[in-house]
Amino acid sequence: MIDWRNPPKLFIPGPVHVVPDVLQQLARPTLGHRLKEYSQLHEEVVNMLKKILFTEQNVFLSTSSASGMWEACIRNCVQKDETVLCTMCGAFSDKFANVTLSCGRKVEELKVEWGKPITPELIDQKMSTGKYPILTLVHNETSTGLTNPIYEISEMMKKKYPEVLVFVDSVSGMVGMPLHFDQLGWDVVFASVQKAFSIPPGFAVAVVSKRALEKSKSVPERGYYFDFQEFAKSAAKNETPTTPSIPHVMALHYQCTKLVNEGIENVWKRHKQMADFVRGWGKDAGFELLPELKYASNTLSTFKNTRNIVVGDVNKALRAKHNTVFGNGYSKLKDVTFRIAHMGDTTMADLKELTGWISEEIK
Ligand SMILES: Cc1ncc(COP(=O)(O)O)c(C=O)c1O
Repeated sequence: MIDWRNPPKLFIPGPVHVVPDVLQQLARPTLGHRLKEYSQLHEEVVNMLKKILFTEQNVFLSTSSASGMWEACIRNCVQKDETVLCTMCGAFSDKFANVTLSCGRKVEELKVEWGKPITPELIDQKMSTGKYPILTLVHNETSTGLTNPIYEISEMMKKKYPEVLVFVDSVSGMVGMPLHFDQLGWDVVFASVQKAFSIPPGFAVAVVSKRALEKSKSVPERGYYFDFQEFAKSAAKNETPTTPSIPHVMALHYQCTKLVNEGIENVWKRHKQMADFVRGWGKDAGFELLPELKYASNTLSTFKNTRNIVVGDVNKALRAKHNTVFGNGYSKLKDVTFRIAHMGDTTMADLKELTGWISEEIK
């Protein structure tokens, strides 16, 4: 039997810990999704998202996890005869490329070793061939704890390849670190809510540029559930095309209100402070970060297991003694790295407790 009165405290990089007042939002009375009350809720959420993501373009709410948005941007905005330049620097950016292939589109891979960043120079070398009308990029690679230099990449892209559409997975970046959508000149950016929004999983947010939406009109067989044209028609009425997960929209309203009240720049600062603390702890405890410090993520830290701890055993002990769990390495990085999430409603006090407990187990 699951003991619901004593759930494990999560420091894995998603889903992250959700605080009780957010959980309560998911238990509000249900609204009909074509009632004016829902439209009001939807409109307010979209307006707050526009503010915190610095955009005046389209914001769509999707009842899916973020993987659906990988598929959505490819199926809506890429013609069958176009080749997508997929940048790959870890497990999730690799999956973005695989999804592109599984949607029947052509892919050119730009791969770097896991833990290394995608740089403007690398993209420029490929783009200069003139063969790629689309670029995919991950903002924050959750497997390696690395943030790509998105502002530098965007500057280069806007200057040299302004006609190229740019799709960005910001699943573990959005609201935890700077993201000025319109200034970056991106075309689609998306995230799921179980990361820095600190909401239970099952919902995603996407910003879609005017030109991406325009292009989607000419792309055949966009499918049904994630058709951007249908999203846009419904968004004009502050609705979604199909019945949304209304409890998630309520929770998103609550969390966006908090983010707006705190001030998004302060939210980014708070994430940086948590990241600095965890990095400092790791260094003192004898662990090296996987990425170079310059590219280290502010929402999670991936450490090389330089002390050869048995990650599973440490986690087992933390579960038994403190009902707490942190992240093992992802995929091929399992056991050779481990990950600590520091995003959303996680606090510095939580992190002090967690790192103290880990130190206790490995001393
Ligand atoms: C960077 C990144 N992209 C995509 C995904 C997939 O998102 P979801 O699990 O919400 O479908 C994840 C999940 O952890 C992720 O970290």
